[in-house]
Amino acid sequence: MTLPLSPDKIPQHIAIIMDGNGRWAQSRGLPRLAGHRAGTENLRRIITACVEFGIKYLTIYAFSTENWGRPKSEVRGLMRILEDVIDRELDELHKQGVQLRHIGRLEHLKPSLQKKVRKAIEITQHNDRLVLNVAFNYGGRDEIVHAVQGIIADRVPAEEVTPELISRYLYTAGTPDPDLIIRTSGELRISNFLIWQSAYSEWYVTPTYWPDFNEEELRKALEEFARRDRRFGKIYTPS
Ligand code: FPP
Repeated sequence: MTLPLSPDKIPQHIAIIMDGNGRWAQSRGLPRLAGHRAGTENLRRIITACVEFGIKYLTIYAFSTENWGRPKSEVRGLMRILEDVIDRELDELHKQGVQLRHIGRLEHLKPSLQKKVRKAIEITQHNDRLVLNVAFNYGGRDEIVHAVQGIIADRVPAEEVTPELISRYLYTAGTPDPDLIIRTSGELRISNFLIWQSAYSEWYVTPTYWPDFNEEELRKALEEFARRDRRFGKIYTPS
């Protein structure tokens, strides 16, 4: 029997590096895009599971600023997937109370796709069961450069630059830092993902490829998180 997870041990914000789609496909003799499609179906299940677990923020790494270096057909395929997800899933996500946000540089995507993303954000802006941040054309270093540019453009005096101010200039402004970052497929790297926000995040890495990371695997990650002792650099002495 699986025991319910105590609500006070559920992370408020989970971020996921959905890695291993290519290897999942390769191991079945399928093209890489079939892996991304299977990964997209899995994402649907995991979003629903997050809503059910009472997670408030989910950030997913769907396309990095470095992914432009992949073969053109794969880049086109990933753009198409983003488009399809909005076309096919928006109504259902809206019904589930999911608020869609985008983090990264939208301006480099084709105008019709930018419009679609903006519309989806507008339609779901008042939903509050789960905030889904889609990191698409996102890079952590790029995000910091963008924040510094904004701070300079706003002529913020040097002495007013604090960690809190920098957080307010990031794409994730208004979203709490991730409590838990999950990376599938066993790689032990940060890959330019939420490099500022992850300062005190707990990491959970599993060898499972993303398309196979199901609700049970998510539960395991949450159980492991519930056992972690988070000290944020401090020590706790009994009072
Ligand atoms: C990493 O696996 C995965 C990606 C670069 C893309 C992730 C995208 C999805 C799961 C689709 C969902 C997308 C949207 C827009 C909602 P990899 O290809 O690097 O795998 P590999 O390391 O095995 O080659």
